Amino acid sequence: MCGIVGYIGSKEAYPILIKGLKRLEYRGYDSAGVAILNDSLNVYKKKGKVNDLIKSIGESNTQGKTGIGHTRWATHGIPDDNNAHPHMSGSERLVIIHNGIIENYSTIKIWLESQGHTFKSETDTEVLIHLIEEIQEEGGLLIEEAVRLALTKVVGAYAIAVIDRLDPNKIVAARKSSPLVVGIGEGEFFIASDATPIVEYTNQVVYLDDNEIAVVSIEEGLKVMNIKKEIQIPLIHEIDLKIEAIEKEGYDYFMHKEIYEQPTTIADCMRGRLNVQEGWVRLGGLSQYKNRISKANRIIIVACGTSWHSGLIAEYLIEDLARIPVEVEYASEFRYRNPIISENDVVIAISQSGETADTLAALELAKRMGALTFGICNVVGSSIARVTDAGSYIHAGPEIGVASTKAFTGQVTLLSLLALSLANEKGTISRSQYQEYITELGQIPAKVKAALSCNERVKEISTKIQNTTNALYLGRGYNFPVALEGALKLKEISYIHAEGYPAAEMKHGPIALIDENMPVFVIATNVSAHEKIVSNIQEVKARKGVVIAVVNEGDKILEKIADYIIEIPSTLEPFTPLLSVIPMQLLSYHIAVMRGCNVDQPRNLAKSVTVE
Ligand code: G6P
Repeated sequence: MCGIVGYIGSKEAYPILIKGLKRLEYRGYDSAGVAILNDSLNVYKKKGKVNDLIKSIGESNTQGKTGIGHTRWATHGIPDDNNAHPHMSGSERLVIIHNGIIENYSTIKIWLESQGHTFKSETDTEVLIHLIEEIQEEGGLLIEEAVRLALTKVVGAYAIAVIDRLDPNKIVAARKSSPLVVGIGEGEFFIASDATPIVEYTNQVVYLDDNEIAVVSIEEGLKVMNIKKEIQIPLIHEIDLKIEAIEKEGYDYFMHKEIYEQPTTIADCMRGRLNVQEGWVRLGGLSQYKNRISKANRIIIVACGTSWHSGLIAEYLIEDLARIPVEVEYASEFRYRNPIISENDVVIAISQSGETADTLAALELAKRMGALTFGICNVVGSSIARVTDAGSYIHAGPEIGVASTKAFTGQVTLLSLLALSLANEKGTISRSQYQEYITELGQIPAKVKAALSCNERVKEISTKIQNTTNALYLGRGYNFPVALEGALKLKEISYIHAEGYPAAEMKHGPIALIDENMPVFVIATNVSAHEKIVSNIQEVKARKGVVIAVVNEGDKILEKIADYIIEIPSTLEPFTPLLSVIPMQLLSYHIAVMRGCNVDQPRNLAKSVTVE
C-alpha cells in the first residue's frame, strides 16, 4: 500500500500535496510526510494521519513550487516519525517517497554500510535513496540516470518519486508492480498513486508501465524511458473529470471492477502480514492483545449484511484452528437483547465502512460491559476503527459498488490470518500444519485469478436462468456462509428472491419448493463434505430441480449429476470460501446486467448504513 503524490509547476505545491494525500489516505494511514523544494529542501513527516502532519507543520515554511508527499502503510519498520517518508540521502541532497517493498534491501544495506553509509530509519526506502546517491556521486550522473542504474540493482516492487536539490527543476518517478500516474497540466505536472489527486487539475494522464522511468520538468516536459534506457513514447489518456469514472478504469460497473481487483486486494491484505518463506503470520493490530484474545472465554462477532457472512466464516475458522468458542451476532439484534458479556470476552466488529450504526452501537455496548473490542474495517479512520481497542484494516481500497465483493474476501483473508495467528499462539495446530496453511494462503491471490476465468461459463449459465423468480443456494461447512452470501448478492442487485441454506437443512422446508423451475446452486468444493453434498444433490435432482454446482477442477462425480458445473481451483478447506464466492459474485453480476438492473446502485439500498 502507501500513497504517493508529487507536484511541479507554477502553483504552491503544499496545498496540492496535502489535498492529494487526503484522497490517497485509504492506501495507508500510519504516517505521512512531504518534502518541498525552495532554496532549501524542507522535509516534514509525522506518525499518524495527514491531519496530524498538518498540525505538526503548523506555521513552518511550506513555500515552494516543487514537492512530493507520502502516506504510509508500514512494511519495514514500525510506524513512527523516523520511518515515515520522505527519506533523504546521506548528504541530504536527494529525497525520495516510495510505495512497495525492496526485497533485497538488506544485502544492499550491508554493502552501503561497508562504503561508509549510515541510516536513520529501519526502512528499505532509505537504503534505496542512499544507493541512488552512491551511484550518482560515483559517476557524476544526472539524477534520472542514477535512479535508473540503482533500479537495475533492486529486486521488489516500487513506485517512487525523487527530487535532487542540485537539479531543482525536475522530479524523477519510476514504477514496477505499484501504480503510478503522471498528470499533465498547463505548465505543471502531477505524480500520484492513482488519479484521484489529479483529476481536479487536469484530465490528461499517462499511466506508467512496469520498469518505466519518467522525468517531469517545466523546461523539458515529460520524458519517459525504460530501465534499459530506451526512450518510450508516453500514451496520453484523456480522463473523464468525474472521479468515479476514472476509478472504473474501463469497467462498466464498479462491482465488476471490484470483483476483478480481488487477486490484488487479497495480496494487499496479506502484504507484510504473511511471510511464506520465513513461515510466519503477523497482525500488527493484534500484537498488543494477542495473549488476551487467545485466552478469551469466547469471541463474539458483531456485524451486518455481507460482513456478517464473513463473521460466520470466522466462526468456522477460529473454532476449527484456534479452538476458541465463537458466537456470531447480527449487531442490530445483539444490541437490544440484553446480551451477557464479561471482561473475559472479546468482541470483534466486522465492517467495510466502519460506520454501520448498529455495529457501532453493539461495540459501544460491549465496551461499556468491559469486553476487549477489536475492529476489522476497510475505511481508514472510520468510527469503528477509532472506537475499538485494537484492530486491523483489510486494505481493499475504496469499495463503491453497493454489493460488497472485494471487502468480503478482504475480511475473510484477514480473519484467516487472525485464526492462524491465534492457533499458533495457542499451539492448537502443529508447526507443519501452520506452515502448510501459510503456504496455501500465499497461493490464494493466484488461485482467485484462476477462479475468475470461470467468467464466460458463468455468463453462459446466467443467460439460462436470468428469468427465474426464485433461487436456492446450498452449502455445507465452510461453504454454508458462502451459500448465504451468494443468495444475498442475487437479491441485492437482481431483485430475484433467493435463499441460502445449509444443504442438509433443505429437507426441513425448502425441499417443498423444488420443481423444474427452481435453480439450485450447490457450492460443493469442500472435500470433507463431498459425499454428503452428492446425496443432497441427488435429493434435488429427484424432484426435478435444476442443479448448478460449483466444484473443484476435475470433479468427475458432480460433472455427471449436476445440470451445469462451474470449476474452480481447489484449496485447503478453511480457505475454500475465498475461491467459491467468486462464481457467486460473477453470477449475480451477470444476471443483474442481463435484467437491466443498475448494478452499482440497487434500489432501496445504501453502501454505508448509518441509521438504525
Ligand atoms: C449495507 C451494504 C452491504 C454491507 C452492509 C454492512 O447493507 O449494502 O454491502 O455488507 O451494509 O456494511 P459494513 O460497512 O458494516 O460492512
